Amino acid sequence: MMEMYNPYSLAGKTVLVTGASSGIGRATAIECSRLGATVVATGRNEARLRETMAALTGEGHVSILADLTKAEEVARLVSELPQIDGFVCNAGIIKRRPVSYVKEEELHEVFETNTFAAFMLTKALMKARKMNRGGSMVFMSSMAARQVTPGNAMYAASKAAVESFARSCALEYAPMQVRANAILAGMVETPLTVKGLLSAEDLERDKQHYLLKRHGKPEEIAWAVIYLLSDASAWTSGTSLMVSC
Ligand SMILES: NC(=O)c1ccc[n+]([C@@H]2O[C@H](COP(=O)([O-])OP(=O)(O)OC[C@H]3O[C@@H](n4cnc5c(N)ncnc54)[C@H](OP(=O)(O)O)[C@@H]3O)[C@@H](O)[C@H]2O)c1
Repeated sequence: MMEMYNPYSLAGKTVLVTGASSGIGRATAIECSRLGATVVATGRNEARLRETMAALTGEGHVSILADLTKAEEVARLVSELPQIDGFVCNAGIIKRRPVSYVKEEELHEVFETNTFAAFMLTKALMKARKMNRGGSMVFMSSMAARQVTPGNAMYAASKAAVESFARSCALEYAPMQVRANAILAGMVETPLTVKGLLSAEDLERDKQHYLLKRHGKPEEIAWAVIYLLSDASAWTSGTSLMVSC
């Protein structure tokens, strides 16, 4: 049978997805596997990471537990990694507090997870030469990096840094034919947004700000990630893709 033409296919590619135990990362791992990728899924919660693994299509996927804020766990993750063609840097947390009430420990926690972990994991896997030539990095930033709302300064600043970091990676790793892009995701209902962050009424009100009068689904972010991982985006690097309407 003739193979179907599909430049968006991930067949033959191995993709590392962080934050694969929940929400957008889980949907990304699942959708990548459906498009033919071999997935390396990482997260902290063993039971939820196992649920993700059970939902993957195809064979040969790997899961590695790691807290990305801990240097020794990042080092172990990288040492256990196979060679990869894609890196989805997605793990993240949110804390909301007006600037005048920001606690230093919380600011550290947000930046250590969202920003420092992205830097240090990227550094570690590139130094260990785990990314193949022609590979692609996708950094999960947020519309919050561009559109600020009250009480969201810690998260917004951490995600603006991630968006900028993606551009630095695009520049510095271009000689290795490695691309790097950011995704600016709008509101997607996941444990991050639904659990305790906004009330049901706030969520309903928020939807009215969107053109389609609804929030995104995790898969709708995953499909944008897949575009950026696939050969369909072979000439796209250093950009930010807004996935929000
Ligand atoms: N949901 C939205 O509306 C939205 C919008 C824009 C951008 N984003 C971004 O999209 C990404 C995913 O968000 P989500 O909504 O899918 O959130 P989520 O459901 O809460 O999932 C967050 C993931 O990050 C992982 N994680 C958090 N801290 C970690 C750490 N220290 N080490 C390793 N893994 C860690 C979690 O792992 P465990 O659960 O295993 O600990 C989990 O898998 C985040 O970067 C978020 O900022 C989300």
